[in-house]
Amino acid sequence: MELPVTDSPTQAPSDVAPAIANLETIVSLSKRRGFVFPSSEIYGGINAVWDYGPLGVELKNNVKRAWWRAMVQEREDIVGLDAGILMHPKVWVTSGHVGSFSDPLVECGTCHRRYRLDELPGAENLTASDLTDPTVIERYKLICPNDGGPLSPPRRFNLMFETHIGPVQDDSSIVYFRPETAQGSYVNFKNVQQSSRKKIPFGIAQVGKSFRNEISPGNFVFRMREFEQMEMQYFVRPDEAAAIFEEWLPRRWDWYVRYGVTPERLRFREHAPDELAHYAKKAIDVEYRFPFGWKELEGIHNRGDFDLSRHAEASGENLEYFDPATEEHFIPYIVETAGGADRAAFTFLIDSYREEEVRGEKRVVLGLNADLAPYKVAVLPLLKKRPEIVELCHKLRADLAKDMLAVYDDTAAIGKLYRRQDEIGTPWCVTVDVDSLEDGAVTVRDRDSMTQERVPLEGVKQLIVDRLAAARGG
Ligand code: GAP
Repeated sequence: MELPVTDSPTQAPSDVAPAIANLETIVSLSKRRGFVFPSSEIYGGINAVWDYGPLGVELKNNVKRAWWRAMVQEREDIVGLDAGILMHPKVWVTSGHVGSFSDPLVECGTCHRRYRLDELPGAENLTASDLTDPTVIERYKLICPNDGGPLSPPRRFNLMFETHIGPVQDDSSIVYFRPETAQGSYVNFKNVQQSSRKKIPFGIAQVGKSFRNEISPGNFVFRMREFEQMEMQYFVRPDEAAAIFEEWLPRRWDWYVRYGVTPERLRFREHAPDELAHYAKKAIDVEYRFPFGWKELEGIHNRGDFDLSRHAEASGENLEYFDPATEEHFIPYIVETAGGADRAAFTFLIDSYREEEVRGEKRVVLGLNADLAPYKVAVLPLLKKRPEIVELCHKLRADLAKDMLAVYDDTAAIGKLYRRQDEIGTPWCVTVDVDSLEDGAVTVRDRDSMTQERVPLEGVKQLIVDRLAAARGG
């Protein structure tokens, strides 16, 4: 497969149209239907933290499960881990985060607002060395986007959140909220390798919360201060790292496509040498065409032996691997796939949104892959005044609910009930009508084609289970 690659971070966003023109479409749908709410809203909200509502938590859980299925369940060479969010503070000194996990911050001399230098209007073409250059503001004639005021020269701002462990609050009790899950996999490399008896190449996968005190969060859940990552660290022979890195690119691309992202709205972007993170030998991002431009969805990194060498040196622990096939001892290289659960869920939401006209009326559909959809099936009575119909609906829903999330709704006429389920992505509606009482069959209506088929009651669950398996490619 030929995959589009670019090395330009500033490629005009107009070349491929986004799935939605305006982010507000998804923000308001999310609020109205219960996908995502502003955190602590009754107190005015807290910047860059979002809460997942009843539908959002289902969607995000399904995204995480789909990732785990592809990365752990379906592979013999990758195992899972759930390391602590708080770690020994030396981890973050050794990893380089205390020293260099920072963004360039500038401050307006009049309104005192703070910005990430590389996100200012007019800063699109800055190089990595510009970001630390004290003359950059003058050279590029950058001004405060709020009031046009003068900006300070950039200074580095560390993104890690600190707290104290234990009852004494002094410098010796400082610990950090992890800014990535990856370090938990590195410090557990030996534990996992020895307990699971995995031979190189093998991987450790983790899903969990990470925290970054981002200077300019925003674009809804795209950049938050508390978020979830889905990261996999693949330990390989040094001489195989470059080839294995290349293998992970189409695999991760395919995962997004398998779950519904339009391939034309994806691209790879390679990091320029002066843009690489402190740990990376090579980095390629999977980017998505968001309504606000091409942005990183996931990073694939060749981290070399940076992490294990540094942790071995700082901890005094021997983190070498013994290869029984070649009888060599070596520090493995690491190929990392680093994605975000929130960013992936956000992408699936945006990319699945569509508006159609059906018989002169607007129909909003979230065409989510059925495996990701919050509700798999809605059971609806055609006549809610008939107790036998309602009873049959509840019985059917309870039976379906043993295997999948199924809901009952009778709060509107059937056409409206269908539209409500379309808007939240429910792939199938099952309608019970008067005939069902006689013939023991119900109508299964498909979200995308809107076709309806008559199915015997006892066959409904299997039909949906089979279609779900097909949706996840199994
Ligand atoms: N371990 C490497 C690492 O953390 P990263 O590119 O900084 O790499 C990986 O982060 C992924 O985590 C990103 O591609 C994105 O999906 C997600 N992510 C990072 N910062 C985020 C933020 N502030 N809000 C939401 N997701 C974020």
